[in-house]
Formats: sequence, C-alpha cells, structure tokens
Amino acid sequence: MKIGYVQFNVEFGEVRKNIDKISELTHEKEFDLLVLPELANSGYKFSETEELEELSEEAGKGEFSRFLLKLAKEKSATIVAGFCEKEIKDGKAKFFNSSILVTKKGDVKVYRKIHLYYDEKIWFTPGDSGLNVFNIDGVEIGMMICFDWFFPESARTLALKGAQIICHPSNLVMPYCQRAMFTRALENCVFTITANRTGKDVKKDGELKFTGGSIIYDPKGNVLANSDDIKEECTITEINSKIAENKNLNKKNNLFEDRYPEFYWLK
Ligand code: ACM
Repeated sequence: MKIGYVQFNVEFGEVRKNIDKISELTHEKEFDLLVLPELANSGYKFSETEELEELSEEAGKGEFSRFLLKLAKEKSATIVAGFCEKEIKDGKAKFFNSSILVTKKGDVKVYRKIHLYYDEKIWFTPGDSGLNVFNIDGVEIGMMICFDWFFPESARTLALKGAQIICHPSNLVMPYCQRAMFTRALENCVFTITANRTGKDVKKDGELKFTGGSIIYDPKGNVLANSDDIKEECTITEINSKIAENKNLNKKNNLFEDRYPEFYWLK
C-alpha cells in the first residue's frame, strides 16, 4: 500500500487557504493512507477563546471535515488530519486538539489528544477518546498527536491494541521527536508517520516556529521518507503493512511475548 504525509505551513486562522494548500500538494499524488499535520485547519498558536470558537468544527460536519471526506473519496484513500474540534454538550462548547480519520466510504473516527503541550492546556480539554485502533480495509491504524510521543505508553497502547501503522499529526517545536520516533517504531515494531508542519505562527502575544522534518519509519527503524525543515510537500512511499504483525526480533525474542507487565509500574 502507498502511505505518506503532507508537510506544509499551516496559516493561522485561514481554514480555506489551508484546504487549498492541501488540495494543491495532493493534486497529482496517489496514496492509500495520508497523514496531515496537527491542527491543520486552524493553525496552532491560539490567543483567545473567540479564535477557537471561530476556527473549530464538530467532527465530520464542518468545512474541513467535508473537504477531507471528499478528498478521501476522490483518491479512494484513508486520510488522517489534526484539527481543532468543537463539541457542544448541554449548550456549552468544549474544544479538543483532535485527529480525524476519514475513509473513502465516508466513515469518520476521532482521536482527542491526551497529552497537551504547554499553552494547549489553556485552550483545550485533555482527550477523552482513549487510544484506539481502527481496521480500515484490513489495515490496523492508530492515531496519536504530537506531544503524545513523549509518553511511550501512547504508542505502546496502540501497538498492543494491534496497530500496524501509527499516524502522528504534529506541530513540533522541540528538536527531538523526529529522531525519537525511531525508538517508537522499533520498540513496537510498527510503521510510524509523523506529519509535521513548517513555518511560524506569529501573533501579537508572541510567535512559535515549527520544525518540519516529517518522517516515516518502518518497524525496523529504517527511514522510508524524510522532509527537510521548510519544504511544503506531499511525500508517498510503498509499504507492506503486514510486516508489522511479526513481533519476533530474532528466533528467541518476541517483543510482546517477552514483556513482564507484573514488574512494570504504570500508575
Ligand atoms: C505539540 O505537542 N504540538 C508540541
């Protein structure tokens, strides 16, 4: 199957422009699974609640979701994208830093980011969806978002639930993740797709620069694709997702069977 990512400079507050950029970058590309950056509809650096109200949408219902569903159908593909999610309950809005998975058949799945980074704690509610794996056309797909990588339990949970491919929409500001995902892929024997953004969010109250370097690892930690820190591009590579099912490291070690959960301290 063909998997890949779009790396681009998400423009803060410019949902339509971001959609147009994704359209342009994917125009001549073919893929079965594509991953877009974190908060790919809205941009990252929020300064006031009104921005969240304006730039968020209910999963599967807003302009960005509708665009992704259309693209998934046109490309006959599964697409995973970070987006600013609004949930309205009892007349009150909650905002989540979420990832949406859409299929060519129109299915919609959502993961809500658990580990919020820095000022995200001001704007977003910590995710309540749990870490789930979805079987899409025989491929087991999990989602986690950006800073979740720093908590190895996130990728481990997805792998133990059977994920073959971990989709990882990101807006990375620190320099570690792109290299660290080598370990997440290797220790869990999974494919990882980290789709990062480039550019800056420049606001009155400060700016943030994002590090690009989107990267795909295979279950042996080989780099299958890697972008530089500025280029906007859609990069696709061919894989066999089934190789992530075999957790044997050698004839005597199996990564999952050799675990000793009774000795692990997880609380
Ligand atoms: C991050 O989690 N966006 C750093």
